[in-house]
Amino acid sequence: MGKKKVMAKILILYSTTDGHTVEICKRIAQTAEALGNDVQLLDIKDDPELVPGSFDKIVIGASIRYGKHQPLVNDLIKKNQGILESHPNAFFSVNVVARKPEKNTPETNPYLQKFLGQIGWKPQLLGVFAGRIDYPSLGFVDKHMIRLIMWITKGPTDPTLTVEFTDWSKVEEFGRKVSEL
Ligand SMILES: Cc1cc2nc3c(=O)[nH]c(=O)nc-3n(C[C@H](O)[C@H](O)[C@H](O)COP(=O)(O)O)c2cc1C
Repeated sequence: MGKKKVMAKILILYSTTDGHTVEICKRIAQTAEALGNDVQLLDIKDDPELVPGSFDKIVIGASIRYGKHQPLVNDLIKKNQGILESHPNAFFSVNVVARKPEKNTPETNPYLQKFLGQIGWKPQLLGVFAGRIDYPSLGFVDKHMIRLIMWITKGPTDPTLTVEFTDWSKVEEFGRKVSEL
C-alpha cells in the first residue's frame, strides 16, 4: 500500500475556558484527518503567529462566556485578517444557547450574529455548536450565575450534573465541510 496523500494542511485555532471547545476541535480534526488531511490545533491564548505557507486552510473556534467570545479572538482576527482572507477559512462558536433548536444555526444564533457584526472578516464557512455545562467544576459565583441563567431559560439547574448538549454528528459534518473548502 502506498502512502496516503495529504489533501490539505488545516490549522485550527481555538479559544476555550473549560476545555469543551478543544474536544470539538479534536472531533473536527479526526473527521478531517480520516479524509486525508493533516490537522494542527493551536490555542489562541498562546498568541500563535500565522505564517502563510505553513497551512492551506484555517479554522477558528471559540466559546461564549457571559455573552462574548474572549477578546483575544477578536484581536487575532483583526491582526490576521489578510491571512485569513487569502486562505479557505471557517469560524465556529460554542455556547449553550445553541442547545435550543431555534438558535442553533449560524443565522439564528444571537452570539454568532453579533460577533459577525463586530469583526471585519466574513468567514467562508460558519458553525455553531451547543456546549457543555459542568456544574461540579465551576466556582461558586459562576455555578450560581449559570444556574440562574439556566433557570430563566428552562435548562438544567442541578449543581451536581454535567450536561453535554453537543450534537457530535453536526460537528463531524462541519469537519467534512472544512475538508471540502
Ligand atoms: C462562566 C460561564 C459563562 C457562560 N456564559 C454563557 C453565555 O453567556 N451564553 C451561552 O450561551 N453560554 C454560556 N456559557 C456556556 C459555555 O459557552 C459552554 O459551557 C461551553 O461549552 C464552554 O466551552 P469551553 O469549555 O471551550 O470554554 C457559559 C459558561 C460558563 C462556565
